[in-house]
Amino acid sequence: MAAPTVEKVQEIREVTRIERIGAHSHIRGLGLDDALDARNVSQGMVGQTEARRAAGVILEMIKEGKIAGRAVLIAGHPGTGKTAIAMGMAQALGTDTPFTSIAGSEIFSLEMSKTEALTQAFRKSIGVRIKEETEIIEGEVVEIQIDRPATGTGAKVGKLTLKTTEMETIYDLGQKMIESLTKEKVQAGDIITIDKATGKITKLGRSFTRARDYDAMGAQTKFVQCPEGELQKRKEVVHTVTLHEIDVINSRTQGFLALFSGDTGEIKGEVREQINSKVAEWREEGKAEIVPGVLFIDEVHMLDIECFSFLNRALESDMAPILIMATNRGITRIRGTQYQSPHGIPIDLLDRLLIISTTPYQEKEIKQILTIRCEEEDVEMSDEALIVLTRIGMETSLRYAIQLITTANLVSRKRKGTEVDVDDIKRVYSLFLDESRSTQFLKEYQQEFMFNELGKTSL
Ligand SMILES: Nc1ncnc2c1ncn2[C@@H]1O[C@H](COP(=O)(O)OP(=O)(O)OP(=O)(O)O)[C@@H](O)[C@H]1O
Ligand SMILES: [Mg+2]
Repeated sequence: MAAPTVEKVQEIREVTRIERIGAHSHIRGLGLDDALDARNVSQGMVGQTEARRAAGVILEMIKEGKIAGRAVLIAGHPGTGKTAIAMGMAQALGTDTPFTSIAGSEIFSLEMSKTEALTQAFRKSIGVRIKEETEIIEGEVVEIQIDRPATGTGAKVGKLTLKTTEMETIYDLGQKMIESLTKEKVQAGDIITIDKATGKITKLGRSFTRARDYDAMGAQTKFVQCPEGELQKRKEVVHTVTLHEIDVINSRTQGFLALFSGDTGEIKGEVREQINSKVAEWREEGKAEIVPGVLFIDEVHMLDIECFSFLNRALESDMAPILIMATNRGITRIRGTQYQSPHGIPIDLLDRLLIISTTPYQEKEIKQILTIRCEEEDVEMSDEALIVLTRIGMETSLRYAIQLITTANLVSRKRKGTEVDVDDIKRVYSLFLDESRSTQFLKEYQQEFMFNELGKTSL
């Protein structure tokens, strides 16, 4: 197996990292202070202080990076901020710790087996921090001399003289090096580094000693000191990639382009085994460290018994991430069985979980969250309108009230208003039904709809 090319992954992940926008874009973290206590309103988070504090404790464990295979369940009523808390954790972790977020139902919709989808999600959540030592040559260019062959055709040859404050050496140049020197427009007086393994040339700037000769150069010219000591140096570079990225790149049938489309298909077990032993080797040699990240499975009650048994097993591996799950279900049937269980999760898995529960919001908190959402969506709203909207949030749901912000703003703009007022809210409230009014409507007009079963089963 060829050595995984880490640089390539690094470039690709810049492109593939998904920017989360929408319902939770106002969340910037968990809003905790140094003692891990939740500030009442901070980083877009409001109330739900107990759950946020608990999430903060988990976060500390993750940051220390010493533990693997812990699992957490966030359970509570719909719209009490479970997904929001998970997003806050992701934000607080930063980009160096892998965080993968999937919905329980997603694993059924991909073109692969459930366990393969889960395995990929697990491996996306484990980072490998790879340290590489490369040899470089760093010095000030004294002279570049390029000889064209007398016949006019054939390879060019040349010589490059580099110096530090202490030494000077002449290097022979091959065709490839000449090309990259020309491409980078390297000239005498430049400070450059040459990566010995790849031949890559980087221009660091111009030597201070040349500052006076080049008055005519633009202000953007960067001046640097002539390097000291030896021309040859060792430099350490660190990359963090995920196990999944290494898998995909080394999977002969897929190739790294699959990372763009996300269409990676199934990855052969033997590829994974090879990667695991390679990574273990790197760890032993001190070249790599494992960074356990987070796998967040939202709507976890959508998983079935096979998935749950897979999770049980996977959590016991020493390369397992921290698993965070969320559900709004009470005691319900475990998919794929006839048995009922709390949250639709088998008891043996529940037994391994730390459970964080969320509680319904008070009026004050709903008002705060709506205010934050108005700011996030750049919507001006009058105080009375906000009070009405808060009432709606209390009586229907927080989600419904949040949805009305955008629509009410559209109505207000249509009438060329400067801010959303009570009438705009009333108008969208009558235009769009919330869940309970919609149910009421269905009950009243059931005979007008097709496939009506209200008479047979009780709603
Ligand atoms: N404490 C909070 N602070 C700020 N925003 C919040 C808070 N709680 C919820 N929200 C926002 O309210 C909306 C609904 O919350 P969220 O989606 O997190 O609920 P949930 O508990 O995941 O619900 P469900 O069980 O239906 O999935 C989201 O837009 C979320 O960002
Ligand atoms: Mg949710």
